[in-house]
Order: sequence, then structure tokens, then C-alpha cells
Amino acid sequence: MLKGKNILLGITGGIAAYKIPSLSSALRKQGANIKVVMTPAATKFITPLTMQTMSSNVVHIDMFDQLSNMNVEHVSLAKWADIIVVAPATANTIGKYANGIADNLLTTILMASRSKVMFVPAMNTQMLESEANQKNLEILRKRGVIVLGTQYDLLACEDVGSGKMLEPSEILEAIDEALTEKDLQGKKFTITAGPTLEAIDPVRFVSNHSSGKMGYALAKRAKYRGAEVTLISGPTSIKPPKVDNFIRITSTQDMFDAIEKSFSNTDVLIKAAAPADFKPKSYSDEKIKKDKKSLNIIEMTENVDIAKHFGKLKSDDQIIVGFAAESSNEIENAKGKLKRKNFDLIVVNNIKQAGAGFKQDTNIVSILDRNGKIDSLEKLEKIELADIILNRVRELF
Ligand SMILES: Cc1cc2nc3c(=O)[nH]c(=O)nc-3n(C[C@H](O)[C@H](O)[C@H](O)COP(=O)(O)O)c2cc1C
Repeated sequence: MLKGKNILLGITGGIAAYKIPSLSSALRKQGANIKVVMTPAATKFITPLTMQTMSSNVVHIDMFDQLSNMNVEHVSLAKWADIIVVAPATANTIGKYANGIADNLLTTILMASRSKVMFVPAMNTQMLESEANQKNLEILRKRGVIVLGTQYDLLACEDVGSGKMLEPSEILEAIDEALTEKDLQGKKFTITAGPTLEAIDPVRFVSNHSSGKMGYALAKRAKYRGAEVTLISGPTSIKPPKVDNFIRITSTQDMFDAIEKSFSNTDVLIKAAAPADFKPKSYSDEKIKKDKKSLNIIEMTENVDIAKHFGKLKSDDQIIVGFAAESSNEIENAKGKLKRKNFDLIVVNNIKQAGAGFKQDTNIVSILDRNGKIDSLEKLEKIELADIILNRVRELF
């Protein structure tokens, strides 16, 4: 969560500088405060006016242009920043910082700073792979600087290879991860997400509207907060977050089998998926023909009850968080489910409420615990809700 975080963007003289206005804009949309320092070479690629407009702040370039406000700029900017992000990072600035050279405002701020530092390299493949640059990057990594990778693509110099700067959305995620407190470090989470599909024949299936957004948000935040995360996901159309172990499944039985493999090695199981309660009683190996009269009725049978099974198996030091999507009487139904399935927490929403439930980026939920406490929350982004749920889990450790 980047709200209120102070991010100092250091822009150096590479062609990828043109992407930094959109990075700045995306960071501001998330509520971060942005200040910008440009090397003199960077001003050849994008104008300070563009960056001033996109950051809503004066852009700092000249180290000796600071006497008017009686402020030693390189020290005050270094102290202000929660993180300094050098993007794009040229081979030149990487070399300078690795070797303690402070000959412009940005390199001097870097030397004066105790805050987190992230370098986002961008350069031609030969420059990237040169012995000098590789040694310099190694020095930075060893010093605790976060050095991001590059993309393999057609470069501005028309070579094809590594060296293209990561996209602003990927840099934003890396900053978010770097600034998140690692309060779940050492804990192992298994999180389920999305729908399951129950096959009728080789082409048809029964499923539900779950998008996987809630489970993916939980997995992303748990990972950013330092947990080791296994994400077991049904078929979804959204991009999976970066986790330790990503397992794609199709049916409820597959989901059950995948949880079974990791359960004994799990501290927290969060069941944000919507596994199908019922499945077709029989599966046809052949595609059922359009004219077949028996297609009027698909006989269904009960699926394996994942929640109940693992609730029974749960040891005293394991935590299970369940979810319930209800269309009426949600608190009473959730209380019953919490007890029956031996959950520690249950998150319930009424799917008929606007802004709650499947497919949306927001949810309106109540969180119930074993002691009868009920927290009814306002409408929240799923990513914010994920942190609230993880805070409640943390209280149980
Ligand atoms: C058109 C052009 C594009 C450049 N692109 C890059 C680049 O992507 N990466 C890089 O390391 N250097 C690049 N350079 C070289 C740097 O601008 C040069 O090394 C400069 O001294 C960097 O200064 P700075 O690190 O203080 O910003 C480029 C130079 C030109 C003329």
C-alpha cells in the first residue's frame, strides 16, 4: 500500500526516461508523495517541466542551486525519502553509486541516504552484460540495494536482447513490495482462489461467477508481507500475483488434492475460492449430441466438502479462514458455517448488494470470529480488504 509513502524518483540519462511520467502518475494515483531528481543527462530525454507537472512538485537537478531556501537539498531530500528509485538507471550512474562517486545531485543524495534504494537498469545488452556493469550491479546487490531485472525485447538501438526497462506497472509493484512491512515472515499460507469447473462432457462444464480477485489480492498482500505463499487457483482470466508456488487446478476434486499436498506444511489456509458444491453425476467421454433427449436433465451429485474436511483435520496451531457468499440472512448463515466447518474466521458477503461479491474490484463484508465478534465493514477495494483480513489472521498467531 503506497498511500502516504515518500518516493524520490531519480531519473538518469537513458531513453527509457520517457516512461517515468506514467510511473509517477501511477504512483500518485495510489496516494504516494513524489519528488523528482534528474541528472543533467536525463533532461536531454524528458523535460523537467513534464516531470514537475506529473509529480506536482519542483524538479531538482542542480546541486548548487539551493542557497535560496537555506536548505541543504541533497541532505533534506535524502532524509525525506522512504525509498529512492533510480529509473531508468544508466550504466554510468550504476557505476558511480557502486564506487562512491558523488558528482551530481542524484549521486550525492544516494551517498547521503539511509533509506531504501532501488535501481531499475535500462541499457543496451552489451552495456548490461559488460564485466564492469555486472561487477557494479553485484556490489549494489551486496550492499542491500534492490536491483530489478530487465526485459528481453527489441531495444531502442535495434538490437534484440536483455536491457529494456521493466514496465511502469511492474516497477510500481516492486516499490509496493519493497515498502511493505514483512510482518508475516516465517509463516506459510495456502490460499485458494477462483471458481472450479465440473465437466459434463469433453466440451461442457458447470461452474460459477468467481473471478479469483479476492484470493489473488490475499495472495499478493501475504507475499508482500513476507509470508511463503502457495496459491491454488481455479480457471481465471486475471494475471496471477508473484507467489512461491502457483498451482492451477480445474475441478473441486483437483483443489482438494492440491490442498491435501500442502496442508500439513501450512500455518494458515485461506479458502477464498468458490469450489462447486455439486458436480454432474456422470461424465460422458463423448461429446453429448445436440439431439440427445437426455440432455434435458443433468443429474448432479454432491462434491467433496473441502472446508469440512480440512476443518476436521486442523491442528491447534493452524488457522483456517473461510468465505461465504450468501444471498440472504448472511450473518446467521455465516455463524453456522464457521462452527460446522471449524473455521477461525469467516468472511461473508451478500452477493445481492451493489459493490459486493463476484467479479468486482470491491467488496462489502462482515468478518466473524470464533468468539462471536462480528465486524461489519464498509465497501472496500479487495486489495485493502485483503490487508484487513491478514491483520485479523496475524492477531491469531
Ligand atoms: C540517445 C541516447 C540514448 C542513451 N540511452 C542509454 C541507456 O538506455 N542506458 C544507459 O546506460 N546509457 C544510455 N545513454 C548514455 C548516457 O546518456 C550517458 O552514459 C550519460 O553520461 C549518462 O549520464 P547519467 O548517468 O548522469 O544520467 C544514452 C545516450 C544517448 C545519446
